[in-house]
Amino acid sequence: MVSGVHPSGDERFGLVDTALTRARYAPDQLIELLHVAQGIFGHLSPDVLHYLARELRLPPSTVFGVATFYSLFTFEPPGDHSCTVCTGTACFVEGADEIVAALQDAHGVVAGHTAPDRRFALSTARCLGSCGMAPVIVVDGAVSGYATVESTLQAVQAVLAEEVAG
Ligand code: FES
Repeated sequence: MVSGVHPSGDERFGLVDTALTRARYAPDQLIELLHVAQGIFGHLSPDVLHYLARELRLPPSTVFGVATFYSLFTFEPPGDHSCTVCTGTACFVEGADEIVAALQDAHGVVAGHTAPDRRFALSTARCLGSCGMAPVIVVDGAVSGYATVESTLQAVQAVLAEEVAG
């Protein structure tokens, strides 16, 4: 697991921080950072947009304005449960594409889409900034490195089963 630094305890913000550091907190990197954040969270919530605005020292209206201008950004959770697989270079080399293929087969959903019953959404992301732990996945917000086909299928099955049990 990657340890996050956000007061909310949501470790995904640790990945956002890594991306911010890599971008040197440059406001002109906003669109790239929105892509990364959407890859990490599956969508752009107001919380995430406010966080980026604060860290980049931009007015929230600017960040919201840019995000809503581009149709490739989405603001609603894509499904009840989600898995994002990093397909950046390091993760690709370590077999991320096999993980994506296995998830597509197992859940009948194409990467970038949500299953018809909206229970599960599969997405891919550019480098999540933890290449040393490639391949990296995010299942319902929990970030894991050194993922395998088996560990990913199990992690997704576990979150889907929790819902049934709960
Ligand atoms: S390429 Fe996947 S974390 Fe960098």
